[in-house]
Amino acid sequence: MKKLNVLVIWGLILGLCVLSTSRGMVAAEEAAAKEEEPKFIRTPDVIYVPTPYDVVRKMLELAEVKKGDVVYDLGCGDGRIVVTAAKEYGVKAVGFDIDPERVKEARENVKKNKVEHLVRIEQKDIFTLDLSEATVVTLYLLPQLNVKLIPQLEKLKPGSRIVSHDFDMAGVIPDKVVNFKSKNGREHTLYLWTTPLKKEKTQ
Ligand SMILES: C[S@@+](CC[C@H](N)C(=O)[O-])C[C@H]1O[C@@H](n2cnc3c(N)ncnc32)[C@H](O)[C@@H]1O
Repeated sequence: MKKLNVLVIWGLILGLCVLSTSRGMVAAEEAAAKEEEPKFIRTPDVIYVPTPYDVVRKMLELAEVKKGDVVYDLGCGDGRIVVTAAKEYGVKAVGFDIDPERVKEARENVKKNKVEHLVRIEQKDIFTLDLSEATVVTLYLLPQLNVKLIPQLEKLKPGSRIVSHDFDMAGVIPDKVVNFKSKNGREHTLYLWTTPLKKEKTQ
């Protein structure tokens, strides 16, 4: 009798595991089906240069990514920042890029790394985005593009973190500036801002 009870309990546990895994698969398949085929919208504002992986990890460390965060990468390239955030911190992440080739690459990267349940890639112009869902924003753009994003970044929830690779944001005081030497031998400068943004005083 005792043996039978144990068998029934194990059967139930196994059944629940199978059910939750298949639900997760269905959710991932549904998300993939909803993805629109990327198309040409307009020329990107900056060319694609990927952030080396050790620099990606340093950016996420600087942002102090923690459970419950939602990471947005504005101009996500092949999706390496959002994929790394999901894989190494288990957080939700969204990558946005305007270039159809990058969107395809990033979606393949998400699939290859099996993080479809945490990451989505959207083909969007970053200057049209509502950032209110994000708690961490990563940037590898250009100084003038960072400045152009200020009105959107100001709408982030208080305590959100913004990390930029190599480029500052004129008029906004960073909380930290870190120089990091990559395995590639180059020194990369990383900037951290926390919301509400601290604006430089104008005379
Ligand atoms: C320097 S790459 C950075 C890629 C990635 N974030 C990384 O650090 O590896 C900049 C990316 O921004 C994208 N981009 C440029 N202008 C954009 C815009 N207006 N909206 C969305 N993406 C844009 C480019 O297609 C490119 O993939």
